[in-house]
Amino acid sequence: MKVKAEKKSILDIDADVIVVNLFEGVKIPGGVTGIVDKAYKKVISDFVIKKEKFEGKYGDIYELPIVSNGKKILIAGLGKQSDFNYTKVRDLTAKIARLCNSFKTVKKVVSILHGAGIAGLDAELCAQMIAEGAVSGTYSFDKYKSVKKEHNVKEFIIAEIDNEKFKKAKKGVEKGLVVAENLNMARDLINESSQYLYPETLADFAVKNSGVKTTVYNKTQIKKMGMNAFLAVGQGSAHEPKFIHMVYKPEKTSKKIRKIAIVGKGITFDAGGLDLKPAASMLTMKDDMSGAAAVIATMRAISQLKPNVEVHALVAACENMPSGSAYKPGDVIVSKTGRTIEIDNTDAEGRVTLADALAYAEELNVDEIIDIATLTGACVVALGTVASGIMGNNEAKISEFIKTAAVAGERFWQMPMYEEYGDTLKSDIADTKNTGGRMGGTSAAGIFLSKFIKKTPWLHLDIAGTAFLDKPNSEGIKNATGVGIRSLIKYITK
Ligand code: BES
Ligand code: MG
Ligand code: ZN
Repeated sequence: MKVKAEKKSILDIDADVIVVNLFEGVKIPGGVTGIVDKAYKKVISDFVIKKEKFEGKYGDIYELPIVSNGKKILIAGLGKQSDFNYTKVRDLTAKIARLCNSFKTVKKVVSILHGAGIAGLDAELCAQMIAEGAVSGTYSFDKYKSVKKEHNVKEFIIAEIDNEKFKKAKKGVEKGLVVAENLNMARDLINESSQYLYPETLADFAVKNSGVKTTVYNKTQIKKMGMNAFLAVGQGSAHEPKFIHMVYKPEKTSKKIRKIAIVGKGITFDAGGLDLKPAASMLTMKDDMSGAAAVIATMRAISQLKPNVEVHALVAACENMPSGSAYKPGDVIVSKTGRTIEIDNTDAEGRVTLADALAYAEELNVDEIIDIATLTGACVVALGTVASGIMGNNEAKISEFIKTAAVAGERFWQMPMYEEYGDTLKSDIADTKNTGGRMGGTSAAGIFLSKFIKKTPWLHLDIAGTAFLDKPNSEGIKNATGVGIRSLIKYITK
């Protein structure tokens, strides 16, 4: 689906569907909806509102049958004006775009710039959200389906006659398309079967698609780099582990630019290792590389948006499998930092790989490190599928990230990092155990990771509950969501 903004009246664009909107309780529509109402003999005010009693509740879409000139009009409910926000612009557009996709004869849709009228939201951000909703909200993974989902709509146009708003809308659409297209790329990667997606193919994908300089290290090189913790997790697999390092450097280098490292958990399948997962928990574990997919997609977006920031993206990619060569409970491993880890449970593998990846990140002398990981089942218990967890060693950066993410349309909730959560990690024979049980598991994992960072400001994002869904979220997406990408792009490019 192509999305663009046009500086024309909604009535002057030749489309099969016209999308207007209505706040809850409005009896006589104003703005562009009012113009359409008048042009179509008050069909909205007299028929849809008065006769059909359409109330404009958020998410309700009234579908007017084909009117005189062969066009269809959709009236989208925006809900209460005081509750309206950017995420709603995105989610509502997603719903509208999916509906339009199901109409057999519809190829071209023209829409109002939701939010930029009486709601007074920023036109650029609203347009970005519309582009994101249209492209990311109509995502489907049907590579392996003989009958594919219908994608009838070819063009989705935002009509905006006001010159200032049109210019902003144009910019917003461009950004929105970069976000959505890369988001969909990540979803394809996460939804891919682990039969085909293993460390080597993940690394190949990054080389081909990250849009930036990408170096892949093999097992021998990883060993030389001292990443024994990472290697231990992968040693039970038939697939060789790979360490992926992607770098973006801006062209015009001013004296001092911000340097960021983003680290994605890259377990291409998490069987649990010898501490094997039960069937129901193992079922979706091809998603355990969602963090990796997020950093690859973010890099591609960065390569297109070209911010004046240096960004490194790192993935320690391996598979966590049980086998005769697998790492075992009770094993002690010397990690890259020299800190020794006693393996208490082979299923707490993500943090073991991240320990070395974070240590590598710190050697890059960056100003901040952000890791993103499907790390703990405890985070799913705590926050469900509604929000992702966030922790770190820098309160200011945590709040800044949460705020930025909210604008990008994603929720992060801070989990505590009280030192006592680390008590369960005490080991009799090593510097730390990799886990100490289920209670307070998200925080304990956070504490574990923090021990592998010496001084760099660091944020940890736990997306275990939000990365892969069995029911559609507010955007209508199930299975891989690509969570984190929107926030990372916004946080890095801001
Ligand atoms: N990849 C899982 C975490 C996970 C759980 C992600 C559910 C997505 C959905 C992680 O490697 C894991 O297995 N964690 C264990 C740790 C435990 C053994 C301390 C867990 O949370 O059960
Ligand atoms: Mg695990
Ligand atoms: Zn895992």
